[in-house]
Amino acid sequence: MQDLFSLQGKVALITGAAQGIGREIALGFAQSGADIVGVDINEERLQKLKGEVEDLKRRCLVLKVDLVQPENIDRMVADALTAVGRIDILANIAGVNVHKPAEDMSEKDWDFVLDVNLKALFFCCQAVGKVMLRQGSGRIINMSSSFGIVGFGGRTAYAASKAAVANLTKTLALEWSAKGINVNAIAPGPVWTEARHELFSNPEFYGNLIKKVPINRTAKPAEIVGPAIFLASEASSFVTGETLLVDGGFCAQ
Ligand SMILES: NC(=O)c1ccc[n+]([C@@H]2O[C@H](COP(=O)([O-])OP(=O)(O)OC[C@H]3O[C@@H](n4cnc5c(N)ncnc54)[C@H](O)[C@@H]3O)[C@@H](O)[C@H]2O)c1
Repeated sequence: MQDLFSLQGKVALITGAAQGIGREIALGFAQSGADIVGVDINEERLQKLKGEVEDLKRRCLVLKVDLVQPENIDRMVADALTAVGRIDILANIAGVNVHKPAEDMSEKDWDFVLDVNLKALFFCCQAVGKVMLRQGSGRIINMSSSFGIVGFGGRTAYAASKAAVANLTKTLALEWSAKGINVNAIAPGPVWTEARHELFSNPEFYGNLIKKVPINRTAKPAEIVGPAIFLASEASSFVTGETLLVDGGFCAQ
């Protein structure tokens, strides 16, 4: 039987690939056979990723791109096509967060979060979507969050952006699924990445948080990789418009 989870022969473009969940997904896709285009603002870490992917005998192009400027996104896609010829999988993982009470959230904070988590994500979908429409096939995986499904204090801009990603995903699926592009999202619960290390190291915060997680712990970044491979591969051929919770049961209550 065909390996339903193989990504052999595919090219995957991953944003936010320099660290955390994006990095794990890039390495996981490479282990499953994909060539990688890793995109981030952190060039040093991208170079490290490139070495690790090449050690897995996969091709890896890394592009330093600030996704907040839509013109950078068009250049990113052009550079990727020049180097690798096609894009089969887009994983929009880059994201930022600002923790503040709603009454203290400034316009700058709001724009910072929405510009990366929603606006840049949409224009990546649009720019890569045009390539996939020409190819007649593609997989898009957008990064939402359990905080886009349920509320969480101190995260107004973040929660709004991630809820919008879930509905944007449905809408793109309605437009593009008949043309060969499956569009889905992943909504992780708390994942202990470097970016969350300081917050999760606070015993009071961590204790209160995991009381709400039925599995009783935070996830490791590697635990998001299997669901991402599922959504990138033939295994999910009839799945589109879905936001897949990977949250240890956080939203089950
Ligand atoms: N860690 C969690 O608990 C958790 C839970 C749910 C969802 N998420 C989402 O998963 C994604 C990754 O989270 P993480 O914890 O690995 O975060 P992270 O901060 O470790 O990684 C995010 C990456 O995005 C990159 N990035 C940020 N702004 C960018 C820009 N303008 N242009 C290009 N790259 C940019 C950063 O440089 C970084 O490498 C985010 O979208 C986050 O919201 C995380």
